[in-house]
Amino acid sequence: MQQRVGKRKRVLVAGATGYLGRYVVAALHKNGFHVRALARDPSRLREARELCDEVFVAEATQHSTLDGLCDGIEIVFSSIGLRSFAPRPSFWEVDYQANMNILSCAISAAVRHFVFISALNADRIRTKVAAAEARERIVDALMASDLTWTVLRPTGFFNDMEELFKMARRGVFYVIGDGAARINPIHGADVAEEIVRRIRDPRTHNQAMGIGGPDVFTTRQIGELAFEALRRPPKIRSIPPWLLGAASLLLAPFNANAATLLRAMQVISEMDMTGTPCGRHRLRDFFLELAFRKDE
Ligand SMILES: NC(=O)c1ccc[n+]([C@@H]2O[C@H](COP(=O)([O-])OP(=O)(O)OC[C@H]3O[C@@H](n4cnc5c(N)ncnc54)[C@H](OP(=O)(O)O)[C@@H]3O)[C@@H](O)[C@H]2O)c1
Repeated sequence: MQQRVGKRKRVLVAGATGYLGRYVVAALHKNGFHVRALARDPSRLREARELCDEVFVAEATQHSTLDGLCDGIEIVFSSIGLRSFAPRPSFWEVDYQANMNILSCAISAAVRHFVFISALNADRIRTKVAAAEARERIVDALMASDLTWTVLRPTGFFNDMEELFKMARRGVFYVIGDGAARINPIHGADVAEEIVRRIRDPRTHNQAMGIGGPDVFTTRQIGELAFEALRRPPKIRSIPPWLLGAASLLLAPFNANAATLLRAMQVISEMDMTGTPCGRHRLRDFFLELAFRKDE
């Protein structure tokens, strides 16, 4: 047994307490990797806790707490980042600084491979959206390093789709502009499988790839799908994109995080948000599952 454990590749999962990170822990565990999770609050690992071989408790934003984080680790994965309208901490403290701290630990510990999650089109919108710039600076640093790297830029995850579903459940589904922007949302389990595949296949190393799920929808069609699952007639309203831009400008002096998220929503509503299709989870099935949870 001891010998078998010694041969398992050791992976650090940063972001293990989040939506994607928990699926990554599960996929790595299932595929025989030794998983060390980084968590500031281990209880947030929930059911993923028992799939972790070790938990390293620390604050990723504070470099001084990360001593030994990557010792003995071959591969580092990070999806640490903000998804909140709260004013603090900032995208620079989390998406940039926390990930830079982890990258610096990885370099000092001579880690072999670093897998990082940015977002679809973040490289194209980085000059307009601070949150995209914060993540893409990590991509720049990785590409300039001597590490082997993998960058995935996924489109919207199913946890974001769940937020859209809840909007329909509340009664009205809002689209930005005419709702014609296209997206192929992806399930966290499908992103996690793609990550394991890329860790294992050296031909995919040192590549950045924009990925999405198997089905392409306009945002209006996502609203229609949600109402169909709820068995209600669709009630879809439009928000003009300029309104998000104006709200972002007004909010900027008080809440830079909310301002950058509104700006991101405005900018991506005018882009094609479809990534290279992968995975097998269908949004229709996910919405039907959510519709059955009547108590929420
Ligand atoms: N969700 C999407 O639709 C989507 C689409 C494309 C790309 N992405 C990218 O993928 C990343 C992960 O997405 P997700 O849906 O898995 O997000 P999530 O569920 O919110 O998970 C975020 C992770 O970051 C950690 N984190 C947040 N603030 C932190 C802080 N101040 N200090 C230390 N750790 C902190 C969280 O830890 P705690 O549990 O301790 O808070 C959690 O582990 C996003 O940030 C985004 O850049 C997301």
